[in-house]
Amino acid sequence: MRDQAERLRERMQQKTAERPTRLVTVTSGKGGVGKSNISLNFGLGLNEMGHKAVLFDVDLGLANLDVLMGITPQKHLFHLLEPNTTVWDIIEKGPGGLEFIAGGSGFTQIMQLDDEKLDRLFTKLNPLQGYADTIIFDTGAGLSKESIRFMLSSDEVILVTTPEPPAITDAYAVIKMLHSRNPAITIRLVINRVTSEREGKMTADKLAMVAKRFLNMDIHSLGYVSDDPHVSKAVKQQRPFLLTYPQAQASRSIRNLVGRYLENPTTTIMQANGLKGFLAKLKNFIQ
Ligand SMILES: Nc1ncnc2c1ncn2[C@@H]1O[C@H](COP(=O)(O)OP(=O)(O)O)[C@@H](O)[C@H]1O
Ligand SMILES: [Mg+2]
Repeated sequence: MRDQAERLRERMQQKTAERPTRLVTVTSGKGGVGKSNISLNFGLGLNEMGHKAVLFDVDLGLANLDVLMGITPQKHLFHLLEPNTTVWDIIEKGPGGLEFIAGGSGFTQIMQLDDEKLDRLFTKLNPLQGYADTIIFDTGAGLSKESIRFMLSSDEVILVTTPEPPAITDAYAVIKMLHSRNPAITIRLVINRVTSEREGKMTADKLAMVAKRFLNMDIHSLGYVSDDPHVSKAVKQQRPFLLTYPQAQASRSIRNLVGRYLENPTTTIMQANGLKGFLAKLKNFIQ
C-alpha cells in the first residue's frame, strides 16, 4: 500500500494540469488488420520520443493487448467503482514501462451503469488529463456501438487497413459512417502490412480519393507499416516488436508514424476540453 501511495505522489508531482492530452482511437473496418499491434508499438514509440502515452484496451470481445505484452492485468477499469480505488491503482506497467489500462469484460458493463456510478467512474479517470500526452484507445473491429462512441468522442481516429480490397472496403464503410455522424472528424489512415511504400501510398491515395469524391472529406495518411515476419515472431514471444526487434522494418515504420503524429497536432475543438470533453461526450452517447 505504501508503495502505491508513493507512486501516486510521484505521479502527482509529474502532472501538469495545463498540458493537453490527445485522445486517439485506433480502429478498423475489418478485424485482424493489426490494430492492437499498432496501438501497442505506437504507444511505445511515442514514449521513446518522450511523449507519454497511456494505452487503453477497449476491445470488448477480444481484449488482447495484455496477451501481446505478456502480462496479466490485476485490475481493470471497472475496479474504479470500488470506493478506495484510484486510477493509479488500475494502471498496469507493461514492457518498456508502457502504461496500460485493461477494459476487459468490465467495459461491457459500463454501458449499463446508472448515472451516479458512471459519474464516479469518469471522475476518477480525470487525473489522467495532463498526466498523459496521448491516450490511445484500442478498439475492436467494425462498427459496434461502443467503438463508434469512442471514435466520435476522441480528438482523432487512426483507421487501420491493409492493402487488401475487403479491408479497404470495410475501412471506407467506417469513414462513411463517421462522416455522417460528424463531418468534421479527423481521420488518419495507417496502411498496415504493405510490401512496398508504393503499395502503401496507392492504398491511402485510393481511400482518400473516394472520400474526397463522394463525401468531400479530406483524409490524411499517417503512413505505412511494412509486412514483416518480425511482427508475428514478437506476437508469439508476447513482446512488442519495437522492443524485441528495434531495427526491423516494422519498427522503423512505427517510428515514422510517430514522427508524423507528433508533427501534426490536431486542432479540433475537442482538444481544448481534453479528457473532460471526451468523457462528457462519451457519457452523452451512453445515456
Ligand atoms: N505489419 C505486420 N506484418 C506482419 N504481420 C502482421 C503485421 N501486423 C499484424 N500482423 C499479423 O496480424 C495479426 C493480428 O494483429 P492484431 O494487431 O491482433 O490485429 P487486430 O487488433 O486488428 O485484430 C498479428 O498477430 C500478426 O500475426
Ligand atoms: Mg485487437
